[in-house]
Amino acid sequence: MTMYQALQITEPEKGIFAQQVTTLDTDNLPPNELLIKVQYSSVNYKDMLSANGNKGVTRNYPHTPGIDAVGIVQRSSSERFKEGDQVLVTGYDLGMNTAGGFGEYISVPSAWVLPLPDSLSAEMAMIYGTAGLTAALSVDKLLQNGLKPAGQVLVTGATGGVGTVAVAILAKLGMHVVASTAKSDATDMLLMLGAKEVVGRDVLEASPKPLLKEQWDAVCDTVGGEVLGSAIKQLKHSGSVTTCGLVAGTAFNATVLPFILRGVNLLGIDSVEIPLSKKSEMWNLIGSAWNVPELAKATTTVNLHGLTEVLGKMKQGAVCGRYILKHD
Ligand SMILES: NC(=O)c1ccc[n+]([C@@H]2O[C@H](COP(=O)([O-])OP(=O)(O)OC[C@H]3O[C@@H](n4cnc5c(N)ncnc54)[C@H](OP(=O)(O)O)[C@@H]3O)[C@@H](O)[C@H]2O)c1
Repeated sequence: MTMYQALQITEPEKGIFAQQVTTLDTDNLPPNELLIKVQYSSVNYKDMLSANGNKGVTRNYPHTPGIDAVGIVQRSSSERFKEGDQVLVTGYDLGMNTAGGFGEYISVPSAWVLPLPDSLSAEMAMIYGTAGLTAALSVDKLLQNGLKPAGQVLVTGATGGVGTVAVAILAKLGMHVVASTAKSDATDMLLMLGAKEVVGRDVLEASPKPLLKEQWDAVCDTVGGEVLGSAIKQLKHSGSVTTCGLVAGTAFNATVLPFILRGVNLLGIDSVEIPLSKKSEMWNLIGSAWNVPELAKATTTVNLHGLTEVLGKMKQGAVCGRYILKHD
């Protein structure tokens, strides 16, 4: 029995959710192969959904969110890991219906776990987190579909977690990055990360037209909805757009015309259920050629007591850059 602290979400009345830093017991964690003492987690949009009772993310409460964790193995019944190993967990069921990284301990199957790459500190791994992994997967798919250095790439939701990291990686790879944001005070941060231009969200305003002026070799869309619909219509011939998010909605109006007249590609991104080998490939790139140390300057670190404020800002779309949790 080890007592530990966690941000727990409870449902005191049906449909009403509360957040509280609580003391819990590791004996009540699920009996998985690895018990991990968490050093850092990070804050992602899905954690905000879980903290606000979204049953598509978390079915039962009380619950501890946190879809990311880096920590030290305390107990292992897996041949892949031994006590003392430093490891990284992102996605699968962590923080959804399995207690997540907003607690000082997690218990998970070894099939969800990677060794932390030597080139990454625990802190840097969480500065990337699921948001950074998703950005890396998006960039990877754009490259696979023909994006070349100096390409004109628009990143939407540029001050969000995925957007921030996407701007940084794309700039490092030599793209001409245009960052779209509603936050005029975030221009300096986006330029510091390598954006060449910062534009407003109206660059992708909804339009009833089936095709719009060709502007982008690629779009890394992190918000979805009609923004994605307009991105498809503004792609140059053979261009590609990645879709990973839904903060601006799930539905969009489009026709087949951009696909059959301009040969554009709509590329879906999932960072959660992809094979562990693909996650490992991406984390190795993040630890080497795609590492952008400047991301630390766009990161805010909080402890368990600071999470509620960050989750509240995220609900309002008011976050800027990355937010990580450092356990005491
Ligand atoms: N598919 C996957 O595996 C995967 C993985 C990670 C995340 N996601 C999804 O990707 C999305 C972004 O995640 P995140 O962690 O980057 O979220 P985030 O940190 O909350 O950032 C979202 C950003 O979107 C913009 N935004 C917010 N509300 C908007 C609206 N109504 N219309 C247009 N833009 C809006 C804001 O940026 P500006 O103010 O700069 O415009 C905001 O900072 C979420 O939907 C998340 O669920 C999916």
